[in-house]
Amino acid sequence: MKQFNLLINADDKLGHINREIYGNFTEHLGRCIYNGIYVGEDSDIPNIHGIRKDIVEAFKNIKLPVLRYPGGCFADEYHWKDGIGDKKNRKRIINSNWGNVVEDNSFGTHEFMELCELVGCEPYITGNVGSGTVREMSEWVEYMTFDGVSPMAELRRANGREKPWRLKYFAVGNENWGCGGNMTPEYYADLYKQYSTFCKNHSGNTLFKIACGPSGEDYNWTEVIMKKLKGWDKWMADGIALHFYSVYDWEKKGYATEFDDGAYYELLNTANFIDPLITRHEEIMNRYDPECEVALVVDEWGTWYEVEKGTNPGFLFQQNTMRDAIVAAISLNIFNRHAKRVKMANIAQAVNVLQAIILTEGEKMIKTPTYHVFDLFKEHQDGEAVYCYVQKENMVEDKNTPMISSSASIKDGKMTVTLANCSLTEEVKLSGPVVGLEVSKASARIISGDAHAHNTFDSPENVVITEHKVEIDNKQLNIVLPPCSVCEVILS
Ligand code: AHR
Repeated sequence: MKQFNLLINADDKLGHINREIYGNFTEHLGRCIYNGIYVGEDSDIPNIHGIRKDIVEAFKNIKLPVLRYPGGCFADEYHWKDGIGDKKNRKRIINSNWGNVVEDNSFGTHEFMELCELVGCEPYITGNVGSGTVREMSEWVEYMTFDGVSPMAELRRANGREKPWRLKYFAVGNENWGCGGNMTPEYYADLYKQYSTFCKNHSGNTLFKIACGPSGEDYNWTEVIMKKLKGWDKWMADGIALHFYSVYDWEKKGYATEFDDGAYYELLNTANFIDPLITRHEEIMNRYDPECEVALVVDEWGTWYEVEKGTNPGFLFQQNTMRDAIVAAISLNIFNRHAKRVKMANIAQAVNVLQAIILTEGEKMIKTPTYHVFDLFKEHQDGEAVYCYVQKENMVEDKNTPMISSSASIKDGKMTVTLANCSLTEEVKLSGPVVGLEVSKASARIISGDAHAHNTFDSPENVVITEHKVEIDNKQLNIVLPPCSVCEVILS
């Protein structure tokens, strides 16, 4: 067994962990919304106005803080007025990004907002810059948030919703360097200013406006956006959105459940790359915004494989194994450590798409290993990130792929430590002091297994959370982590 030192210092604070770091993403893509979250009111599957009850409960259990909608690439071809009013009369839409399927728009603004209300999470809406108008975006904000008598507020009332919704997070376009219009950063920044000017704060509702940020390593995009979005007295954006997917090779993505040890470590190496990537974007942002007024919002992240054999290539349906759980743990630990700048993150996507936390088949629903990671990490929400050091040994020579991933936070006198043992073969014992907290109680929960382990509709509990042994001895934390495991430790 390997033995590594650990040191946690509760007095050394790194930043506030916004609960929105634990956010998720729902797009009109494949079976995320239709035949996923939304089954329609006439379905035999238990639902509330067409929204699956079991999914609402599962979201509530992980304290899902924020949900992004309606895309993704879909957002820049979505016209919100087609998704309101009597469902029988709603216009159809060709989902040209995702399989060219024709959708009936039966899930729109009201349905999404109801989903968020049922879950108790913040809605995060992305407006259409690529193919929509300034007026259309402005009216959507008015429709959702204006309390007085106005054309859009009256339309909302006519559609059955008297009171406006509270809407904080609003993005002005998605991936406008690509599917959102193939723009240069200079052109997009000008459009951002124009569109966002007309997204008003109505009736006491204050928008947190998010501009399209870079794709992965496009540092120039960040530079230009930061340079151009500084208004004469304040920032014109509250956040910029970074997208980063853990993909070893876009030409040979491999399958979710079929991989060898080499591919496992390569993917983890890619997942770890988000750490220096965020650091470099932060360095650019720091030059323009040393006060950290503009957030980095990682509103798409996760693994992306070949679709499951026999499924629609446009639907991005993939299984989810312990390997994905390890990627999720690595990513979330990194976001915690960057809590000063990273204020929101949204894994792609919630249900049946990419690194989904939930998979459905008819009335069956399973929680993936990635879901359990969100359960194990939920106590970090709204905590203060604190210094957490684990002696480092890289698993892959010449690559920055540490064996242990970790982060810690403190909230209400309780410390949460999340750890992943990323090795496929080595059991690891971690021991070391916890400074700045009188610890009398310790408990731990874990998921572990073969890297290929996953839940299926016939065997939904192959990977589940179990209790785990942890000791506090003379202010020293001692814990043994089995290979390929993700663990939550609570100290108080
Ligand atoms: O999450 C799937 C797609 O990936 C999104 O629609 C798009 O924004 C990104 O390219």
